[in-house]
Amino acid sequence: MQNLRIPGPTPCPDEVLKSMSRQMINHRGPEFAQILSDVTAKLKQLFQTKGDVFLLTGSGTGGLEAAIVNTLSPGDRVLSVSIGVFGERFAAIAQQFGAEIIHLRFEWGKAADVDAIRKALQAESKIKAVLVTHNETSTGTTNDLKAISSVVKEFDKLLLVDAISSLGSIDLPVDDWHCDVTVTGSQKGWMVPPGLAMVAVSQEAWQAHTKAKMPRFYWDFAKAKSYLEKGQTPWTPAISVVFALSVSLDMMLKEGLPNIVARHARIAQMTRNGVKALGLSLFAKESHASNTVTAIAASDGLDTKKMLKILREEHRVILAGGQQRLDGKIFRIGHLGWVTEDDIEKVISALIVALPQAGFRS
Ligand SMILES: Cc1ncc(COP(=O)(O)O)c(C=O)c1O
Repeated sequence: MQNLRIPGPTPCPDEVLKSMSRQMINHRGPEFAQILSDVTAKLKQLFQTKGDVFLLTGSGTGGLEAAIVNTLSPGDRVLSVSIGVFGERFAAIAQQFGAEIIHLRFEWGKAADVDAIRKALQAESKIKAVLVTHNETSTGTTNDLKAISSVVKEFDKLLLVDAISSLGSIDLPVDDWHCDVTVTGSQKGWMVPPGLAMVAVSQEAWQAHTKAKMPRFYWDFAKAKSYLEKGQTPWTPAISVVFALSVSLDMMLKEGLPNIVARHARIAQMTRNGVKALGLSLFAKESHASNTVTAIAASDGLDTKKMLKILREEHRVILAGGQQRLDGKIFRIGHLGWVTEDDIEKVISALIVALPQAGFRS
């Protein structure tokens, strides 16, 4: 088996994979209604919310689009807090639907500065919503969402959160941190294949929904809510992925959220220590380094593409490269979901051999 250590899709436990080989069932029948109701209740525990949680069939980006189109109208001013590729994507979606974006960009590898967010909100009173990426997968950086949220709520703005690569792995108490729409994706820390976006919707988000004029059909939260009340989804869901999620959520609740969060913190620290011991440098500032993905700078002659190829072909270790302007400049190790210390030890052992072969002079 290959050691797939990219920041999603992540490997799935055998029980999860087996659950997907089941025969199809009627997605408008009582059995699916029971599964959907159980899965939703379990997700609420892990999202730490009493609000609504919906399963949307689509990738995480679909969930981000849903967050935008259900709460905003064309012409609304939106503050985009961006620290990397996915922050830019969130803003691009809002812009595509006619929002007026105020960009607040921070150097890639650093977290957002909370005082700068406060100043931006002070400077422009008409801002309706703030877009934030909790964990920026492209740079391996986690924002201080609790502090950001408290500033956003000081100004009484909507907080739309991309938690695609954090929720279920890094602590994010959705209600306590007053997140209005919070989006995650099945292929990340949830240990199931791609195919579902899971979103939490607050009361404030529902109030915004009543006035939001952006075009929406497939992603309409009102349709998701009215169908969920009947034990259904508005459109045919990715039934097999729901089966998988049902099993993985049981595994996650058995381990317990605090233990999952602690395991991710421990394994992330082990990853950071391991790469630093090889003479490599972390790309992200260590104070905000992510517990789900570690980004490592290409330095001292390292050809990351060559290294990734050697790791893949000779060690069956699959790591990720850099995205967009970080292509060739960093590589990333994913450590979220179904991951143990042993998986990372194998990555480090493979790196010891591959790094000098790929030009790295420590
Ligand atoms: C932080 C973040 N946002 C958005 C996305 C996009 O999700 P998807 O590829 O499921 O559409 C990803 C996926 O890597 C991500 O990590």
